[in-house]
Amino acid sequence: MKLWTLLFSGVVVMTSVVSAADPKQEAFGKTKDGVPVEIYTIGNSSGFSARVMTRGATLVNLHVPDKDGKLADVLLGFDNVSGYESEGNQYFGCTTGRVCNRIAKGRFTLDGHEYTLAINNEPNHLHGGLDKALDKLVWKAEPFSSDKAQGVKFSCTSPDGDEGYPGTLEVSVTYTIPADRNAITIAYSAKTDKATPVNLTNHAYFNLSGEGSATVLDHMLRLNADQYTPTDDTLIPTGKIETVEGTDLDFRERTRIGDRIESIGKTAAIGYDHNYVLNPRAEGAEMTLAAVLVDPKSKRRMRVMTTEPGIQFYSGNFLKGQAGKGGKTYAHRSALCLETQHYPDSVNHPEFPSTILKPGAKFESKTSYQFDIDQPVSAVQQKKK
Ligand code: GLA
Repeated sequence: MKLWTLLFSGVVVMTSVVSAADPKQEAFGKTKDGVPVEIYTIGNSSGFSARVMTRGATLVNLHVPDKDGKLADVLLGFDNVSGYESEGNQYFGCTTGRVCNRIAKGRFTLDGHEYTLAINNEPNHLHGGLDKALDKLVWKAEPFSSDKAQGVKFSCTSPDGDEGYPGTLEVSVTYTIPADRNAITIAYSAKTDKATPVNLTNHAYFNLSGEGSATVLDHMLRLNADQYTPTDDTLIPTGKIETVEGTDLDFRERTRIGDRIESIGKTAAIGYDHNYVLNPRAEGAEMTLAAVLVDPKSKRRMRVMTTEPGIQFYSGNFLKGQAGKGGKTYAHRSALCLETQHYPDSVNHPEFPSTILKPGAKFESKTSYQFDIDQPVSAVQQKKK
């Protein structure tokens, strides 16, 4: 009798804690301050899977099938926390904020107060600042799973005054992979107790041939944007919104990234590092199709859908040959970022869509990276018939 009771309770405990569909949780190391960092694996039955860690609510791996069903990790990153804490980490896969991208001279005025932020990208503030920026915090994780999806919800509190920003900010970032599609959705939400700027993105570096491949210059890109925000030499928007027509920034048709990069490389941006103004989303649609990226070799195709009004296309110009996962070298332009967001320095540009979150309101934003195999146009037309 006793034995049965023991066995039975054991089974109950086992099944409630580790059901087959639960995201796998592993230790990923400790921060330099000794805080343990956990990593979770989420995926679907096709082998499409991601690993996400609690430091910076960071997307660490993304395994995507190619035309032959072969999986490759398409994200730059490191094998452990100390890699992410090293100076080789240029925001790989992290949640960037409180305000991603640049704020001119690290200053803004809100409700009559002037706020001063760290200047960590001379002469500007970049990606939320230094040690208390969201990418450096260890977030709380709540994994979840059902027959429809697997995911992890990360949450953290950024106290009033951290990195110079006003208000206590409660933030959450939820990664979800549906059971029936090769896609990963990132949903952001935030609340504050004082008016404060919020602009969140993920800084994933993609190489659709697999991380460690030489360059992304042969990747083909289409951006659903007729306009962009021109900048000064420090990459701060002038406030104008201009057409891409007739410029090297025109990606309205699928274009090889390397085709015009040398001429754009001679500008202050030293490559693509531009905010595109996305064309308005179709009426009733939740998200806009922002970008389509194709690797002609593997035929992996990624579509970026978002609720955000802008996307920063950054062609990995500052990658410098640092050693990443498995000791692979991450050379100049061996990956690119497609960072969905509000326009840079919006807090100093009342003419741009506002990034100010007020007490009582909820910040919500969603981006989905969807993967499939690129098909020749003729095959697509054939299918439609
Ligand atoms: C963003 C910026 C770039 C660069 C990278 C990180 O994409 O726009 O200029 O700072 O982040 O290296």
